[in-house]
Amino acid sequence: MKPLTSIILGSGLGGVADKIEKAVAIPFNKIPGFARSTAGGHRGQLILGELEDTPIVAMAGRFHRYEGWTIDQITFPVYVMASLGADRLIASNAAGGVNPKLRVGDIVVIRDHLNWIHGPSRIPKAQTRNLLGRRGNLYDPPMAKLAIQTSLARNFTAYQGTYLATLGPTYETRAEYRMMRRIGVDVVGMSTVPEVLAASAIGMRTLGLSMVSNVARPDAPIGEAGANHEEVLAAGKAAETKMESIVRAIVKNRA
Ligand code: 6GU
Repeated sequence: MKPLTSIILGSGLGGVADKIEKAVAIPFNKIPGFARSTAGGHRGQLILGELEDTPIVAMAGRFHRYEGWTIDQITFPVYVMASLGADRLIASNAAGGVNPKLRVGDIVVIRDHLNWIHGPSRIPKAQTRNLLGRRGNLYDPPMAKLAIQTSLARNFTAYQGTYLATLGPTYETRAEYRMMRRIGVDVVGMSTVPEVLAASAIGMRTLGLSMVSNVARPDAPIGEAGANHEEVLAAGKAAETKMESIVRAIVKNRA
């Protein structure tokens, strides 16, 4: 059966990958056209299997612009998952909390984004028909609504907010962090936007989920003494149950 839902599991969110049943995991480097994932905490596998008795396809790990991959290399797996049958994408990531109400382990449903990852991309012309542009919703409102409802049913609150994608690999300075707060950023990360733009270009419906892995403090630069890789992984564990419940609800429900 075709996987209708595709999932990108970011840093520290690979635990959901272990829950996939009847899994067939293919290393990225065995798939023609795929780049090779190098970041720690990433399995670097494309996994076909089932969640909630429903066929899915998932990436455990992804490619980042700061690693040197091109936008084409970053988005190629999205087109592959669409070719396998997926018409929906759940794109997850670990991000820094910029909005002061956010705490480590919180989940933010991405409602819109700011794109500071620069780089050329070649979205095939035949596929730009569905480009929504500035006024459209890149993030599917019904999927976002279901994510929020699921959180409330599970006695936690998934926030909604704006995701800023920076190029990285450095975290923010204090000045940058103050600027981000003032321009309305809720969470900041270094991924997701390229894949979401590609998915949107070919008409896939997308849910964006950020797991808050560290938060900015007024007295310290965001990320400093708070965003090493171990902490990203630890926060991922705490938030994993939340993320998993949202993913399961989306996979199960076509609304
Ligand atoms: Cl604090 N900043 C950025 N740019 N990306 C991140 C992050 C912070 N935490 C996780 N990813």
